[in-house]
Amino acid sequence: MASSSITRYLTGITTTGTPHLGNYVGSIRPSVRFSRQNGVQSFYFLADYHALIKCDEPARIQRSTLEIAATWLACGLDPERVTFYRQSDIPEIPELTWLLTCVSAKGMLNRAHAYKAAVDKNLAKNEDPDNDVSVGLFMYPVLMGADILMFNAHKVPVGRDQIQHLEMARDMAQRFNHLYGAHFTLPEAVVDDTVAVLPGLDGRKMSKSYDNTIPLFAPRAQLEKLIAGIVTDSRAPGQPKPTEGSALFQIYQAFASETETAAMRQAFAEGIAWSQAKQQLFERIDREMAPLRECYKTLMADPAQIERTLRAGAQKAREQTRPFTARLRQAVGLRDLAQQMTTSVTPAPARAKTRKSSPAAKAGFKQYRESDGRFYFKLLDQNANVLLQSRGFSTPQEATRVIDIIKKGGGAALGPLADQFELLDATTQAHTVDEVLKALRSL
Ligand code: TRP
Repeated sequence: MASSSITRYLTGITTTGTPHLGNYVGSIRPSVRFSRQNGVQSFYFLADYHALIKCDEPARIQRSTLEIAATWLACGLDPERVTFYRQSDIPEIPELTWLLTCVSAKGMLNRAHAYKAAVDKNLAKNEDPDNDVSVGLFMYPVLMGADILMFNAHKVPVGRDQIQHLEMARDMAQRFNHLYGAHFTLPEAVVDDTVAVLPGLDGRKMSKSYDNTIPLFAPRAQLEKLIAGIVTDSRAPGQPKPTEGSALFQIYQAFASETETAAMRQAFAEGIAWSQAKQQLFERIDREMAPLRECYKTLMADPAQIERTLRAGAQKAREQTRPFTARLRQAVGLRDLAQQMTTSVTPAPARAKTRKSSPAAKAGFKQYRESDGRFYFKLLDQNANVLLQSRGFSTPQEATRVIDIIKKGGGAALGPLADQFELLDATTQAHTVDEVLKALRSL
């Protein structure tokens, strides 16, 4: 897909809450390192429109936006090198959201994990399925699609929970391109399995929803106290301790060098006291965080400077979003009326291509592996339009098995599979189902 050699990376951070060590290890630190590489162009933005979906406390949104901006800057994000902006400073994003809304199947959004979870929760309580569900929550994936497609990002580093959103963004891009010409790059999710998922104080994944986090810039004394509270077992000093399953060890490992980790492993085997191990963990984290914490304090003391940085970022971003939006408006027909009408009412290269396509081309399934390491398949029609996009499978055999069921069962297999395997997440337009059936018949 990439037509130039520069790969564009884009990531959004929802502005609710205060960043914690898990965010740092899992996202901020790797992203900042990554943004310094050559040959990449990165976009980082504060997803404050998304924040409104989850949070109706204006002061908290403002506070969190400031904290998250200061955090990324303190952790070394260079706004000269990357494009760092606030989503709500880019009016072209909600505009694109609408254009994408009009090409997104409602059925696709019905299947979004977050929405489905909310509905299932209501059903379990015998409530109306949409009780307390805002249209904002329902539309979340479309807004996210607009974030990504607006910058024609090639790669989107995300957590596993976001893969479905990327599949949907691809689907919106495909559908739009099919109707209006090749405007959007199809983005790919990048899930980095080498970065650790940091356990929290109670040993479960560190997450705000478990209330087990260590705030990234907790002052020294608070950091020490929180670390002292990490769950351990009752093994006494002198008793060997397994590193396997130890939250303390895993957190240490996320900060330490290989040599330091090896030394800690040895100390565990030799029965280091938990209190001592905690002390070492505290010192190790503090060594990395202390300079960043200082920088963070300085930044937080001057919010006006952060505001200026974000506005400058928005200006840089809008150098792209403004002309691109003009092009998209033109493509869909939101045009200057004085302008000469184009001969074709719908100038869709995709359709033109359909007519010209070589008769030799055949519809068929394609199996492939994505950079997230999972195995996918899609069903293409004879013009190489994607009709059906699978979810990711952990083995190619699983994917093949599903393909076989579809081939054997034809149309009748689609319905049951859609639920069982979350197939068709990406393609639920009625016309596409018809096309799928047509393609299956032609196999
Ligand atoms: N949904 C993402 C999250 O909760 C945040 C986000 C919003 C995002 N827009 C995005 C991430 C665009 C990547 C690209 O983590």
